[in-house]
Amino acid sequence: MRRILSGMQPTNRLQLGNYLGALRNWVALQDQNYQCLYCVVDMHAITQPYDAATLAQSTREAAAAYIAAGVDPKKCILFVQSAVADLHAELMWYLATMTQIGKLNRMTQFKDKAGKDSERVGLGLYAYPVLMAADILLYKATHVPVGHDQKQHLELAREIAATFNHRYGQDFFPQPEPQILGEATRVMSLRDGTQKMSKSDPSDLSRINLTDDADMIADKIKRAKTDPHPLPDTVEGLAGRPEADNLLTIYAALSGRAKADVVAEFAGQQFSQFKPKLAEVCVAALSPITARMRELLQDPAEIDAILRDGGSQAREIGAPVMADVRKIMGLWS
Ligand code: TYM
Repeated sequence: MRRILSGMQPTNRLQLGNYLGALRNWVALQDQNYQCLYCVVDMHAITQPYDAATLAQSTREAAAAYIAAGVDPKKCILFVQSAVADLHAELMWYLATMTQIGKLNRMTQFKDKAGKDSERVGLGLYAYPVLMAADILLYKATHVPVGHDQKQHLELAREIAATFNHRYGQDFFPQPEPQILGEATRVMSLRDGTQKMSKSDPSDLSRINLTDDADMIADKIKRAKTDPHPLPDTVEGLAGRPEADNLLTIYAALSGRAKADVVAEFAGQQFSQFKPKLAEVCVAALSPITARMRELLQDPAEIDAILRDGGSQAREIGAPVMADVRKIMGLWS
């Protein structure tokens, strides 16, 4: 059985990178002969400072964004991580006993998020990749569609699965395969083409949120950082021009075209000619999602019902896996 598990943190609002790097691929994959589990990972979101008063609503909004982008709760299991918190946390603990801290020390996202203050950040942030491995292995997922930034976490999940299998002499967990798909696996900040576009960047001008309206999108693109040269006539000409590369990549991904094709179309043009065109494709792609999201959020009870149902379906898959894990590991229960 081919099974997909993927998730997003309900931190602030979802942004274009989440959409192009992950969400859009989730939607395509639900029709390709996988059982798909898509999760809102609220237990990951609390590893950094957050607002308890708004977390549940952000979780609902993330679920609404999944559905608005095309994730179909009739085809997929759509759930919240904390609805199955006992199993995710339990498996995380077991996996933590077989995760070397040397490997956690090498996680670049931890280093980025902890910054200079790594002695004072919480254990949860450090152990975050182990919880992510538990999310995937709890459901014996075989495939994990994510953006490029999650590659290292997935490699760790594969190593942990192999360690478990080796230590207990069983071929129990499958090796989860990363699916890093499409033209835009790494969408960069609009303010700095060398930094990833991120929900947590303090500047809202750095990203396009799935909830931005047409005027905001056009304004952010207009103000996006560029360089003084006209657009190049080959993809190779984008080398050393991270902002130009990023904007053309976004255009290609949103219009469903190859980057080389888009570069050829805009060759020699100024950013001032290209940017309005980019704003147009952005608005065309995102405005139906934003509108549908708004509609869905009018009825939070309906979203909660979908999530509750998804939670029990996820539990049905995860509970027997956990029962086997306890037995294999020799726990008394
Ligand atoms: P998160 O919430 O940071 O991002 C969710 C998804 O969006 C992708 N993404 C991007 N892709 C391209 N360009 C960008 N600028 C960009 N920003 C984000 C991410 O790669 C991701 O696929 N640790 C994960 C959440 C997680 C998870 C899991 C994922 C927890 N458990 C189990 C898969 C399987 C995270 O923080 O994603």
